[in-house]
Amino acid sequence: MDATSLATFRTLGDINKTVSQATSLDEALKGCLQIIQSNLHAEMAVIWYYDAEGDKRLHPEFWVAPNDLTSVSHAVGEGAVGRAYQTQAAVRSLWFESSPDPVTQEDFVGVEIRSAICAPFSSYQVDYGVVQVINKEGGERFTDDDADVIEIMSMLVAQAVTENEGRFETWKHGDTIMEIRGVTREFQNGDTVAKILRGVNMDVYEGEFLVLLGESGCGKSTLLNIIGGMDKASSGTFSYMGRDLSHASQAELTDYRRHNIGFIFQSYNLMPNLTAYQNLALIADLVDDPMPIDEALKSVGLEARAKSYPSRLSGGQQQRVSIARALVKRPKVILADEPTAALDYTTSIEVLETLAKVIEQGTTLVMVTHNEEIARMANRVIRLRNGQLHEVTVNRYPVQPTDLVW
Ligand SMILES: Nc1ncnc2c1ncn2[C@@H]1O[C@H](COP(=O)(O)OP(=O)(O)OP(=O)(O)O)[C@@H](O)[C@H]1O
Ligand SMILES: [Mg+2]
Repeated sequence: MDATSLATFRTLGDINKTVSQATSLDEALKGCLQIIQSNLHAEMAVIWYYDAEGDKRLHPEFWVAPNDLTSVSHAVGEGAVGRAYQTQAAVRSLWFESSPDPVTQEDFVGVEIRSAICAPFSSYQVDYGVVQVINKEGGERFTDDDADVIEIMSMLVAQAVTENEGRFETWKHGDTIMEIRGVTREFQNGDTVAKILRGVNMDVYEGEFLVLLGESGCGKSTLLNIIGGMDKASSGTFSYMGRDLSHASQAELTDYRRHNIGFIFQSYNLMPNLTAYQNLALIADLVDDPMPIDEALKSVGLEARAKSYPSRLSGGQQQRVSIARALVKRPKVILADEPTAALDYTTSIEVLETLAKVIEQGTTLVMVTHNEEIARMANRVIRLRNGQLHEVTVNRYPVQPTDLVW
């Protein structure tokens, strides 16, 4: 094996590692571009992406260069970048003897382009775009070997991207629905003050499934009560759909709760002397445009149990009635405080499947749980510690309730 092949072989390992450890496509490509750039001793490097869905031109996605290339783009076949994409072969502009490459020069205003290579950034399945390196460090010219290397590396990166592509789906969050800034909550305990929330900053996005985790007593329920309008922060602000509720009166908070928020509790909180139907009717009477009660019961699979009293229902069925009761309001947000804590595994999964359907229909769900396994279903997981956010995870691959095991 010659030196070039050996170097390329070693780099394959680096590229694979970079792609597999990256948590986003951006991170992977940036990492790979840096590998290519340092292997080629290039002063500048750019990944151009072909916009197959849009204007069908090549746009810069990532680059290391002193220029802002944001508004630059190439048509297929235009310039070295466009030609590399069109022909799917490297364009080796190895040395500009007399004057710099006029085409490339236009993009990199103020930089003298002496030497450049454009290689297709394509896997066996997908032609993503083009990788371009410009000017070798120390004023040297790129060589044909360099061009071979960048061609192979670009292909390896593209192949790694294709093979891992599933992992790189990014989660696109919806509009901000709740904004929590510097929220504290203190409780007077005789002579002492217990600081439970110590400055919580977070957003809740429309349509997301957000899980709140944290040790017992860390303030999860306290936080849920504040964003549900059942309690007020000692300081800081809480706004809902752009409306600051930090100083809202009790009447305003009641109104906010009634029209926007559905609650689900560990203990179901159903009225024992009312049937499932009547428990829902109680709430339907309070709001303007309730979901028909039959429809709400049907959506949790309990249309046949409308006339049952809670005591005649299993724990899981009672919890599903309480979900239906929350749905009757057609709330924008459902706040659930350990909704499965009192249930066995099978019943928990039934309840979670019901909630998954609710989310699918566009309702935002914020759920407090102790169950790390349930967190795998969420779009985001926020871990609280000591009255503050401790760790946030974005799940690119939320799992189905039936995939959960505990
Ligand atoms: N109204 C209150 N008055 C005094 N202290 C309170 C009040 N509400 C909550 N606390 C205290 O605040 C702390 C946090 O309570 P919170 O219920 O928010 O915790 P949690 O994270 O939900 O815990 P768990 O997982 O056990 O439900 C606890 O120490 C609790 O005793
Ligand atoms: Mg709690």
